Amino acid sequence: MSKQRTKRVIGNWKMHGRLAANVALLNEVVQGAGPVPAGTAIGVCVPFPYLAQVQQQLDGSRVAWGAQDVSAHEQGAYTGEVAAAMVAEFGARYAIVGHSERRAYHGERSEVVAQKALRALSAGLTPVVCVGETLDEREAGATERVVGAQLDAVLDAMTAEQVASIVVAYEPVWAIGTGKSATAGQAQQVHAFLRARLAAKGAPDVSLLYGGSVKPDNAVELFAQPDIDGGLIGGAALKAEDFLAICRAAN
Ligand code: 13P
Repeated sequence: MSKQRTKRVIGNWKMHGRLAANVALLNEVVQGAGPVPAGTAIGVCVPFPYLAQVQQQLDGSRVAWGAQDVSAHEQGAYTGEVAAAMVAEFGARYAIVGHSERRAYHGERSEVVAQKALRALSAGLTPVVCVGETLDEREAGATERVVGAQLDAVLDAMTAEQVASIVVAYEPVWAIGTGKSATAGQAQQVHAFLRARLAAKGAPDVSLLYGGSVKPDNAVELFAQPDIDGGLIGGAALKAEDFLAICRAAN
């Protein structure tokens, strides 16, 4: 199986950060990124108000940046929403879409997630499309049905060429922020399933990230799986030392 795909580690800061603390964290990440193999792409997805700050601080470094959501609309009377084109104006590379916290707390359905992914692509951003099952769904044996449907909604809205430009993150809801990561075997099983779905769409080399309690001590084993191309990192992305250790584990 091909292991030639780009390795990628992206931090999702979620709703964390302050201007002063961000300076310190970003400096540490940039300065510590040297030993991370050059083939590993590094990124951080920050709250919208910090896009200008990360652009200023990360421009010219090897660390890319992005947002954690974008609107499903192009522009218009959508109070409180942020368009993909606005995010792109700050030099962003990524936009996370369909994170389980958006699905759970903001009622985002997969069709909306697909629209957001398309808006991101149109603006020149790489959408990081998140899929994942809850514990109840896993215990009911519905994991593949659930993540398959979440992914299909996005694939059905795109051409094969567009799909080739996205990143997909498998994030089991029960592993997010719980300290209880999926085992490498559990994650690989779902990744192989997602890989087959992407291959059937004509895009077998899409970057497939695992997210959910990735830490320095489990990253090596997770990232060694044939269909795991890196990680989407929550809590551990807020500590430069941990984030960098995870980045170094990706090759
Ligand atoms: P944790 O790494 O904190 O479990 O969060 C994972 C996540 O949701 C990344 O998007």
